[in-house]
Amino acid sequence: MLRRLGPEVLVRMRRELLGWYERNKRDLPWRRTQDPYAIWVSEVMLQQTRVAVVIDRWKEFLERFPTVEVLAAAGEQEVLALWSGLGYYRRARMLHKAAQAVVAEHGGIMPVTAEELKKLSGIGSYTAAAIASIAHNEHVAVVDGNVERVLSRIRGWESHDAVGEAAVRRKVEEFSASLVDPRRPGDFNQAIMELGATVCTPRNPQCLVCPWASECRTLGEHKTPRRAAMTNREIACALVLREADAGTEVLLEQRAADNTVMPGMWELPALEVEKVTAAGEVMTVRHAIMQVNYTVRVHPVTARDASSTGLKGTPMRWFSIDKASTMALTGLARKVLTRAGLLRTEARSTRARFASPPITELV
Ligand code: ADE
Repeated sequence: MLRRLGPEVLVRMRRELLGWYERNKRDLPWRRTQDPYAIWVSEVMLQQTRVAVVIDRWKEFLERFPTVEVLAAAGEQEVLALWSGLGYYRRARMLHKAAQAVVAEHGGIMPVTAEELKKLSGIGSYTAAAIASIAHNEHVAVVDGNVERVLSRIRGWESHDAVGEAAVRRKVEEFSASLVDPRRPGDFNQAIMELGATVCTPRNPQCLVCPWASECRTLGEHKTPRRAAMTNREIACALVLREADAGTEVLLEQRAADNTVMPGMWELPALEVEKVTAAGEVMTVRHAIMQVNYTVRVHPVTARDASSTGLKGTPMRWFSIDKASTMALTGLARKVLTRAGLLRTEARSTRARFASPPITELV
């Protein structure tokens, strides 16, 4: 049974949290707009990606797709290209599809309430509550991983298995619904997410500066469920370049349309890792995708030695570097091309140099 906190406690907690938020909130670009579409994009990007990465990507996305109509009218490859590097590309596809539904079924006007927003494919309870509360001040609670951690620590709710996790989740949802400030639900929701992201962090929470320390049952002693362990894998790919009239070109391979991971996106041709490590000169790039830490051996291959089909039997194509920079590249391909000094989208501090590419058969 959930023990409810009295109204005076709830009022005090709202005041403490919002006061802290006013003093400490980060100046983030999506906090300067009330446009539900722009807030939607930010919330989708923030779901699995760090704020520091999202800031520039959100600005670029909104420059290219300033309204839901513009996004709906764009091709999927271009949407994926602007998402490149943010990972979890399914989010971009769903956002694009939902934008098309807003145009086709709602005349380009986004639904206002969380209930209506949830009917759009790809908008779940979290995103719907975030948009409705931030853009329209609807009195609904947002519950993401940060909120769940903060509130379960406050109340001392722990879980040790999946059944316990579901029970904690239900209690958190009920508690957050009673706690969210009816006068400033958008600010309250952002404040509690901010608290989880910056103070009540998974490891080493900063209880000394927490506005809710006096309300908290656990003060750093809460057992946070362990994340699934990361596994390590070593893979290899080829960096194949040639000089053409219009400048340097790179050989790319398209992932199959029915691939469950990153379908239709473009990547560097795969190689067999054993052959590459034996072959000599490589650039090594580390790249994490979901629960896997990849060590990627990138091997330069001359155009002369590259066959026209990659390891996976997929045809490959040449693209100018300028063209490639606008394509739906996988995050790994973008990272390698940047590190090789070919793309300009990231800092070049880790630029790699290959004196003269050794010759390797592309098998
Ligand atoms: N995490 C996801 N969305 C957020 C927001 N609007 N404010 C703070 N943290 C967030």
